Amino acid sequence: MNQEEVKTIYTKYSSVYDRIFSHFFFPRIKLGINKSRISNGDRVIEVGIGTGLSLPLYPRGCKVVGIDVTTKMLEKARGKKERDKLDHVELIEMDAENLTFEDNSFDHAVAAFVVTVVPNPEKMVSEMKRVTKAGGNIVILNHFCSKNLFLSKIEKIFSPVCEKWGWRSDISLDLLSNHCNLHLSQVLKKHKLDPWSIIIATNNK
Ligand SMILES: C[S@@+](CC[C@H](N)C(=O)[O-])C[C@H]1O[C@@H](n2cnc3c(N)ncnc32)[C@H](O)[C@@H]1O
Repeated sequence: MNQEEVKTIYTKYSSVYDRIFSHFFFPRIKLGINKSRISNGDRVIEVGIGTGLSLPLYPRGCKVVGIDVTTKMLEKARGKKERDKLDHVELIEMDAENLTFEDNSFDHAVAAFVVTVVPNPEKMVSEMKRVTKAGGNIVILNHFCSKNLFLSKIEKIFSPVCEKWGWRSDISLDLLSNHCNLHLSQVLKKHKLDPWSIIIATNNK
């Protein structure tokens, strides 16, 4: 998917996104944010924040900058910010692969269900590492393809079909540890057979 295709798909999802996905995504984002060391006084960037499902989960004493490329998804997040008076949250339309922030601007970074959506996940992770201080947490939630050779082959075959729905299914966890050189401190799942993983990585730059 190129960025225009991503925007088209997520513009269509925006009005129904929370109804379809929040039941699956919200409890896992909650677990990821709870396991991270985000605390009062920290500056956090969340890339691909979408409709802002995560917004109520951040401590009000931290500063959260949420970015996304899809205007309509961000509009939904802005609605939540206004409704819940989340003055510690700033929402900006921006490409996660080309962040306009200075190096080391944030203490921690979060990407929930975005790695398999962006056209170039390595670039996105390298941008997250760049803008986050050394030793900070990089929290990534996603489905990663199976380590089982047979299942991963099936996931690779189905990836073009998944792309029509707005994500790829052919990205493995190796992408983060090897290609992105991330130190994965914790790899968690909500339950043993959960298709989604919660990664807490340390920014080892
Ligand atoms: C599956 S949604 C996840 C949204 C949110 N993180 C959540 O957990 O509900 C993927 C989001 O990534 C955004 N996205 C895709 N490519 C992006 C990019 N290059 N930069 C910023 N956001 C992007 C989409 O617009 C969409 O809002």
